[in-house]
Amino acid sequence: MFDNTHFPKAKKYWQNEKLLDWPTLTIHPMSHALHYGTSVFEGIRAYPTANGPAVFRLPEHLDRLFHSASVLSMDIPYTKEEIAEAIKLVIKANQLDSAYIRPLLYYAYGNLGLLPKNFAVELAIAAWEWGAYLGEAAEKGLSVYILPNRRIHHSQFDMKAKLGGIYVLSTLGGQQARSRGFDEAVYLNMEGNIAEGPGENIFIVKNGILKTNNMNESILEGITRTSILQFASNMGIESRVGPITKEEFFQADEAFFSGTAVEIAPIVKVTDGSNGKASEKEYTIGSGKQGEFTDKIQETFHRLVRGEVEEYRTWLTYVYA
Ligand SMILES: Cc1ncc(COP(=O)(O)O)c(C=O)c1O
Repeated sequence: MFDNTHFPKAKKYWQNEKLLDWPTLTIHPMSHALHYGTSVFEGIRAYPTANGPAVFRLPEHLDRLFHSASVLSMDIPYTKEEIAEAIKLVIKANQLDSAYIRPLLYYAYGNLGLLPKNFAVELAIAAWEWGAYLGEAAEKGLSVYILPNRRIHHSQFDMKAKLGGIYVLSTLGGQQARSRGFDEAVYLNMEGNIAEGPGENIFIVKNGILKTNNMNESILEGITRTSILQFASNMGIESRVGPITKEEFFQADEAFFSGTAVEIAPIVKVTDGSNGKASEKEYTIGSGKQGEFTDKIQETFHRLVRGEVEEYRTWLTYVYA
């Protein structure tokens, strides 16, 4: 029996223009991406709305996918419109009302030299029902661990790109934090400021002002992050973008992660492990509970992704439109 415990409701996936049954295995072990991480991907969500499932900010995710592919010199054999249609098809084929959607472009079977030669680039798209990443822990408020290893620096590669191979660092960081009993990791950047989580951006709130960092701080410029900055301003919440020092983080009234997978999740405790185990110190953020600004942002986000806020319906692509 093919175990799909971690992919609820996944029945079919799309690969190279075919809808395949979920247990179908198609990749050769000598595929380039499997060895060197030469793949690019997106994490996208669709939410239930009064008009059926709708994909949140699909054009922005496809723009980022194409940008990521260009960084790896991949020629994508499909247009953005074709990929958008394939995504809708996968949601329909799995009869999903809400979905986490994973398009993956990769160098498949060809040569195994570091430089892929004359490759056909393959595309796979899967969708399944995935609850909030960090689920129950996020409901209580997350306890995070600042890692001793720093985030890869923005001068080392284009951080607008989601390259498969780069994510091994996120896996390592996440494992390190979990093995010490924390819910999630936080990276400092080379400058010693707060960068991001392994798959999440970070916001803080101090005296009613929202703050997050930008690309110069070695982060992926998340689509959720950009959306929050846009709708918070329309809600009359002042926000700033710039470096977040460790001290600002520890002394914040509130802090939260943002991202497609995690959505909006409060951070309530931080352990600073950046100088090694011997000098670890724990800090409580604000009251140690999810705060009122995080509440407001989270609530608005949940409503707008479900099509309940008229002014943001343009951010949605309706699957059955
Ligand atoms: C490293 C990293 N930072 C931040 C994010 C949040 O980005 P988004 O809001 O576009 O999902 C992600 C998720 O894609 C990520 O992998």
